[in-house]
Amino acid sequence: MTSEGLADGPETYTVTVVDSYDLLSALAADAVSETLANRPGAALTLPTGDTPLGMYRELVRRIDAGELDFSQAQFFCLDDYLGSTPDDEASLTRWLKQVFLDPARLPEANVHYVPTAAADPQAAAAGYDREIAACGGLELAVVGLGPNGHIGFNEPGSGPDDPTRVVDLQPATRAQSAAYWDGKADIPAQAMTIGLGTILQAKRIVLIVSGAGKAEIVQKSLEGPETTEVPGSFLRRAGSRLEVILDQGAASKLSPRQ
Ligand code: F6R
Repeated sequence: MTSEGLADGPETYTVTVVDSYDLLSALAADAVSETLANRPGAALTLPTGDTPLGMYRELVRRIDAGELDFSQAQFFCLDDYLGSTPDDEASLTRWLKQVFLDPARLPEANVHYVPTAAADPQAAAAGYDREIAACGGLELAVVGLGPNGHIGFNEPGSGPDDPTRVVDLQPATRAQSAAYWDGKADIPAQAMTIGLGTILQAKRIVLIVSGAGKAEIVQKSLEGPETTEVPGSFLRRAGSRLEVILDQGAASKLSPRQ
């Protein structure tokens, strides 16, 4: 494993490049463990998707082994399709329940669901941000990176001050999402996501990216200009609150650093 802080000052983010997916997953789980060791009732958000599967396996293992107490954490779901409920086949909340929330036996009262089925979704989204604020803000946000540079469902066009809100999904994102259900699920055209602005206020942000297929968007996010075309490019604004964990494939297009 190589781990390096970037050279241009204490306020900058770190990039850690690991040799295996297991290590990437363990480091992401470490961020969760450290956060809850410091503050057992911390508010946190963790992503869905392929990348965090190993992290969730490791978190469940730690909980089962008594190494991690998740019972007081305030878990905020990151994003889900507009109008969906956990009864729908295509529901990230349902995915999260199966992969983590149920095996981790999280008290239902500590889980905050994205209000995708609210009668007034925009108002409910603003309410979700208030709920996060009422818990003291996000202590930790672990996020993945979409092939188009999205963070959560902050699709291209999203900016660094964007609150939690309803967004239009790009066709490529809908196709990426459909693959989680073997292409069989019908993915809605809109979603609700914790806003990039809300994520950027988190006390600790951990970006996990795996695989050479994301090397180019990782390079654009970390070394390209800040642009709404690549929402991931705004993460650097978090400075030292941002930790990037990559495997060799995902890091393969980054410039060499001293
Ligand atoms: C999912 C989410 C997305 C994913 C991203 C990467 O909750 O917010 O931003 O993190 O699309 O997905 P995977 O890990 O499947 O490549």
